[in-house]
Amino acid sequence: MSKKVILDTDPGIDDTMAILFAHASKRIDLIGITTVFGNATIENATRNALFVKHRFGLSADVSVGSDTPLVLEAGEPTTFVHGDNGLGNIIIPDEYYGEVDVLRAEDFIIDRIKKFPGEITLIAVGRLTNLARALDKAPEIAGLVKEVVIMGGAFGHHNHCGNVTPFAEANFIGDPQAADKVITANWPTTIVGLDVTHQTVMSSRYIDHLRSRSERYGKFIYDITQFYTDFHRREAGIDGFYVHDSSAIAYAISPELFTTIKGKIRVVTEGPAIGHTMIKKDDRRYPIDEWSDYPAQRVCVDVDSAGLLELYASTLAAG
Ligand code: BDR
Ligand code: CA
Repeated sequence: MSKKVILDTDPGIDDTMAILFAHASKRIDLIGITTVFGNATIENATRNALFVKHRFGLSADVSVGSDTPLVLEAGEPTTFVHGDNGLGNIIIPDEYYGEVDVLRAEDFIIDRIKKFPGEITLIAVGRLTNLARALDKAPEIAGLVKEVVIMGGAFGHHNHCGNVTPFAEANFIGDPQAADKVITANWPTTIVGLDVTHQTVMSSRYIDHLRSRSERYGKFIYDITQFYTDFHRREAGIDGFYVHDSSAIAYAISPELFTTIKGKIRVVTEGPAIGHTMIKKDDRRYPIDEWSDYPAQRVCVDVDSAGLLELYASTLAAG
């Protein structure tokens, strides 16, 4: 049985790798892609989603989402990580790549969750603005979704605490109010944060190998990741790159690759620690306790990295 998935994303190099992973997996029925600003402007992120859909024959609908956070001012897209066009500056021919859905992202999410009650897995690998807007408009969707999987945040496991500030991860600091709203909502959520995404690296050897192993996707992935690999070499001093967004897809396909803990989570929305995620694991009610009234959610703290890398490569090779 495949899972019906809506992927909320800001493509983005690793986002695009995640889109292709979801598309190639027989365990996932990718019914929609909703776009959000972040790695690229909303125009480029949406164009990239349509380009990938067109090039690889995806049947998922593409819907346009938010271009600003809920409260903060929109910052600049992270082109220094993903290239000016969001896809590592590969040449994207200037042509027609098809239409976006008539519904905007938050309405698309609401519509599909209501159409398939209890069936939709919502995977979010960008800022959580679209999901927060959907919850604002139709809070009842929280009880109708099957599960929510989020790439974002960092809880300090394996010493991974942040990638934008010492204590904040990019997707959460990009819209902390949205992240806090989505994580405290009463829907079953799993966070795939830096705790595990920084534990898995796709080395240049791995990407070279994937180029020949996956006839359909390998060369394209090789091309878009050269920019990303350079960024990681310069900034993190590693050969290859961390596996962020595809780890969320891996969790949806094979949760047994991950170890999780449970607790109530909040996201800091102001001050020097803005974007920081904090989990309360005990059930004690403290004299002042802004965690107690919210549902416990799952956080991934360990991953079978070799298993994940093989799952990605074998899925792309067979897809
Ligand atoms: C997250 O930030 C973005 O650059 C990546 O696409 C990923 O979703 C990692 O912090
Ligand atoms: Ca992303």
